[in-house]
Amino acid sequence: MFRFTYSVVLSILASVAGCASSGRPPAASVPPPPVRSGQTLDAQHGVVVSVCRIASTVGANVLRDGGNAVDAAVATAFALAVTWPEAGNIGGGGFMMVGEPSRVGQPAVHFIDYRETGPAEVKADTFAGKPTSHQLAGTPGTVRGLFTAHQTYGTKRFAWKDLVLPAAKIAEEGFVVDAALAASLNSGLARSEAFPEFRRVYGKVDGSAWKAGDRLTLPDLAATLHAIAERGPGEFYEGETASRIVAEMQSGGGLISAGDLKNYRARLREPIVGTFKGYTIFAPPPPSSGGIALLQMLNMFETLDLRADQRWSASTVHTIVEAMRRAFADRARYLGDPDYGTVPVAELVSKDHARQLASTIDPLKATSSEQVAPWAQLSETGGQTTHFSVVDVNGLAVSNTYTLEQSFGGKVVVRRAGFLLNNELGDFNPRPGQTNRNGQIGTPPNLAAGGKRPLSSMTPVIIARNGKIVLVTGSPGGRTIINTVTQVVVNRLAFGMSLRQAVDAPRLHHQWLPDGIRVERSLAEQHLQTLEGLKAMGHAIDATMPSRQGDAHSIEIDPATGRLTGVADKRIGGSAAGY
Ligand code: DON
Repeated sequence: MFRFTYSVVLSILASVAGCASSGRPPAASVPPPPVRSGQTLDAQHGVVVSVCRIASTVGANVLRDGGNAVDAAVATAFALAVTWPEAGNIGGGGFMMVGEPSRVGQPAVHFIDYRETGPAEVKADTFAGKPTSHQLAGTPGTVRGLFTAHQTYGTKRFAWKDLVLPAAKIAEEGFVVDAALAASLNSGLARSEAFPEFRRVYGKVDGSAWKAGDRLTLPDLAATLHAIAERGPGEFYEGETASRIVAEMQSGGGLISAGDLKNYRARLREPIVGTFKGYTIFAPPPPSSGGIALLQMLNMFETLDLRADQRWSASTVHTIVEAMRRAFADRARYLGDPDYGTVPVAELVSKDHARQLASTIDPLKATSSEQVAPWAQLSETGGQTTHFSVVDVNGLAVSNTYTLEQSFGGKVVVRRAGFLLNNELGDFNPRPGQTNRNGQIGTPPNLAAGGKRPLSSMTPVIIARNGKIVLVTGSPGGRTIINTVTQVVVNRLAFGMSLRQAVDAPRLHHQWLPDGIRVERSLAEQHLQTLEGLKAMGHAIDATMPSRQGDAHSIEIDPATGRLTGVADKRIGGSAAGY
């Protein structure tokens, strides 16, 4: 299991030289193997897969230089805060799963919850009207979460500052914009008149559109990252950066106070564990809804023998959609921050509950969403995140999804600090008691409160078989995240597609309300007959047909050889880097 390679040589050299906590290990006499990148990458030692080649390479360099997967994840996350600003962040929050391989029994999988919290003055109806971007900013968790990851699971061969500085350097020196980033920036800037600081920081000086080959430099962000590198998370939560956040809140009518920042804590929680067809699934617990919903759906698929028909038959897709409908109804009914109410996790993910839910599925006909949730009182009436996966030479795995909620959050850049704040508090149920057919939920478990974490759909997962970690995946996409991850997992584990095929395959989404299936355009193009079959069963197909759903950067580990396959989702322009 333990592969004696370059990094191991380095780690031995580092400990002999007594520099375990003083930064990079000394250069070894053996030349380091080159870090390569590509959309699909086979690697023997370590791999990072993210939306952005520069960030994946920053992480892969850390792996190659003797860092473990957690060290690499921290460096990748800071790099993405510079190179993928619509979602990579220091002003948002997220979830990290860390999977440690074990020689006997199951891997030890840990979960770091660095979700944003509601500022102390938030009440259940604070967001019932038309909240502003400043009001929707939650107390950010990313810097504290990454620090917790580094302190708890990093090697310490890399000092904190050595994981932050590569990002600071990229921001300071500037970097070349690629086609994906140009499109992202142009779309963010298109509706940003109300946010002059955002335009100043992320717009081109001459006001023209970004194009591939341009250079983006972020001097204020570079200075903030240098300060965080030198002074640690205290800089962000109690130092000069904290003062700048508070000043930004005061000038824009936001809610985050100095006390909220000072009191912010990342939380270590137990992941949810389930099984599917001989695999063990480690998934995020509340305040993510993703782990519970994913396991509920996989449990239903086991009960219903999803493989009875082929993958794109109307009957298979009908089963998948009906499972989605039921899992999302339970999500609305039961899920919220577990520190603010009891979430019946064990009951929800039990095989018995799945059997009961599955027994209500008519194999020939769509159930109406109102019928699956008679408890719901219905009244009349996009965004971005990013996921990356890392596996190192010893098989340590990181699955990380983090977010600003919408693309570029609420477009509030903290003045003189150069980073974007999230608008995550929009994930609370906005109007107590009001659940409507458009998908607005008003149920009690996810009502807003001070200190509370809004319910999330982020679903970073780690999957093992016979005690060995074999798959790491996750995705952005708001509520579609859960269904994207479910489809990647089912494609790979139940239908035997290669990971490349499983990630490339068209995706669809049903979230209970609104009661319709949203399909990727490619699904409509490739499987028109399936859609006709679904319509005949009574399903409504949403006419929106987005060009993409999710962005699932994934890694597979061959349990026999330990060989790694990094698969970047091509939907935006992802990249795997490794050696
Ligand atoms: O935590 C959540 O579920 C959402 N705030 C994530 C937002 C998101 O993925 C938007 N992205 N595409």
